[in-house]
Amino acid sequence: MTTMMTMATRTLAKKKSKPSLAVLNPLSIATYLSAGLTPKVTVDNAAESVNANLTLPTPQRPMILGVSGASGMIYAVRSLKHLLSAGYTVDLVASRASHQVWLKEDGVQMPTNPEQQADFWREQAGVQSAGKLRCHAWGNVGASIASGSFRALGMVIMPCSMSTVGKLAAGLSSDLLERAADVQIKEGRSLVVVPRETPLSLIHLRNLTTLAEAGARIVPAIPAWYHRPQSVEDLVDFVVARALDQLAIDCVPLRRWEGK
Ligand SMILES: Cc1cc2nc3c(=O)[nH]c(=O)nc-3n(C[C@H](O)[C@H](O)[C@H](O)COP(=O)(O)O)c2cc1C
Repeated sequence: MTTMMTMATRTLAKKKSKPSLAVLNPLSIATYLSAGLTPKVTVDNAAESVNANLTLPTPQRPMILGVSGASGMIYAVRSLKHLLSAGYTVDLVASRASHQVWLKEDGVQMPTNPEQQADFWREQAGVQSAGKLRCHAWGNVGASIASGSFRALGMVIMPCSMSTVGKLAAGLSSDLLERAADVQIKEGRSLVVVPRETPLSLIHLRNLTTLAEAGARIVPAIPAWYHRPQSVEDLVDFVVARALDQLAIDCVPLRRWEGK
């Protein structure tokens, strides 16, 4: 009996001392890659293995960009600019409310037709042909990104409204953006939420906590000053870079803190 217990304890200790890459967060994977190492995936079950591979930053694997109706469409525009310029494939879905916000804040009318929308976003981002961009209509819940079988690198919702945060926390999928995000959560894949609201109510905070507990990374649209921003774009790019860091995507030219 004692021997059996000792063996069990040893097995547990052995397991604890060798964490698989699959249980590390994407930042750890970024650390592997920046050190020039190939992450070795040693996992106990196939599902974990698949999910670990999905977080690897290959530009050919699509990344989903969700744009919800929070203030600051510039966050989405700058993200798209950097991703496409670096050759990434982006599947973009903008919520119904985001059209209204853009119109109200900047007088900009986003087309609803997916093909026209792709041209429009490229024009906004100032990227003519680099990378690949597919836009999806907000109501098309039958789109590729609505399915768990669509193998995306991950999804970033930027900017993210409190309404979307609340619906995701409640498990609701009332449009394509929410469905795509819900799929990321249910499949155990990377979801990065960039909330934009202030002040935050207790309900907002609880919903964000629920999302974090479900595995989402919360990267609030809060810029820093240590990189010496010279423009609004610099401030926005800081948030974009930190959000994409969560997917181990390093395509934003950012002066990173080096401790000097
Ligand atoms: C000009 C404008 C700015 C807004 N800014 C925010 C914001 O920063 N954060 C937020 O949570 N909601 C904001 N809203 C409210 C959302 O757009 C609204 O709750 C909407 O239903 C969100 O829908 P969605 O999450 O499906 O995009 C704003 C609305 C307008 C018209």
